[in-house]
Amino acid sequence: MDPGTFCGQSRVLVVAGKGGVGKTTVTAAMAQMAAGLGLSVLIVEVEGKTGLAAAFGAEDLEYDERDMAPRIRARSLTPDVALVEYLEEHGLHRISKRLVRGGLVEVVSTAVPGIKDILVLGKVKQLERAGVADLILLDAPAAGHAVSFLMSAKGLKEIVRAGPLQSQADDVLSMLTDPSRCRVMLVTLAEETPVNEVVETAFALEDRVGVDLAPVVVNGLYPVLSGLDADPVAAGADAPVLAAAAEFRRRRQELQQAQVARLAGALPLPQLHLPTLFTVDLKPADIDVLASALAAAIEALPARTEVA
Ligand SMILES: Nc1ncnc2c1ncn2[C@@H]1O[C@H](COP(=O)(O)OP(=O)(O)O)[C@@H](O)[C@H]1O
Ligand SMILES: [Mg+2]
Repeated sequence: MDPGTFCGQSRVLVVAGKGGVGKTTVTAAMAQMAAGLGLSVLIVEVEGKTGLAAAFGAEDLEYDERDMAPRIRARSLTPDVALVEYLEEHGLHRISKRLVRGGLVEVVSTAVPGIKDILVLGKVKQLERAGVADLILLDAPAAGHAVSFLMSAKGLKEIVRAGPLQSQADDVLSMLTDPSRCRVMLVTLAEETPVNEVVETAFALEDRVGVDLAPVVVNGLYPVLSGLDADPVAAGADAPVLAAAAEFRRRRQELQQAQVARLAGALPLPQLHLPTLFTVDLKPADIDVLASALAAAIEALPARTEVA
């Protein structure tokens, strides 16, 4: 599939998965790929300290949009800020700041579960409707919470049966369940627990929220090396060390291949494979490498992804 077509399938792409699997990294790579195709991108970060800005060599994100790279902007979006905006837009600007400072969000969210998530998603929906960028990437909260995060609209509708909150929940749900507006891209590692979790999350999101799932990203794959069976003694090298390293790598490859196959069997979604990069802190040049790998993986997809 052409990467431009892939990016044009929905204005909002929610990147979700278990903590530490590479959501933020994949978000950055996806942004870089889309920007490289000439699209404007807005990244929305809903959890603090994600390291997203650092991957672009930029300063930490704030509420105001900030330039990360050509055609890539990013901002943070917390429930507090979303509530202030919501109140201001509804003519309550004089009280909004005071209420938020006084911890209103905490009080309300105890009374109405899911309200924080609805505030954030409501704002995302507004950005989507306003067409602030060709592609809006949402770096979602960690997996367990991602389901409840995206479920919040449905849950809230059952509690609040009328009024502005209900219509907010309705609007959010319409966006989440319209594949031409929003899709969820799940990220995992080729390891036992992350694979189990991503399968569970995928089914929960499809069945309970009704969102459309994009291909699943399998991040951090070790490139398969050939020649691991060569005899290090013949090379005259430090034989035990090399043999141990080769053995480690061989096991690692077998393990990840088995997990990739297990994922394919359990989840009828195309996979996008990304390599592990042997660096400590990912820098803009590393994001470029991952963006190219992502583009190559998307190009290898069939032109039309069949709905399972
Ligand atoms: N493909 C990769 N190669 C090397 N390091 C990676 C890769 N993907 C992620 N990382 C590193 O793994 C850590 C977790 O990634 P991150 O994107 O922050 O995960 P998440 O957002 O899911 O918690 C970070 O230190 C990141 O730099
Ligand atoms: Mg993250």
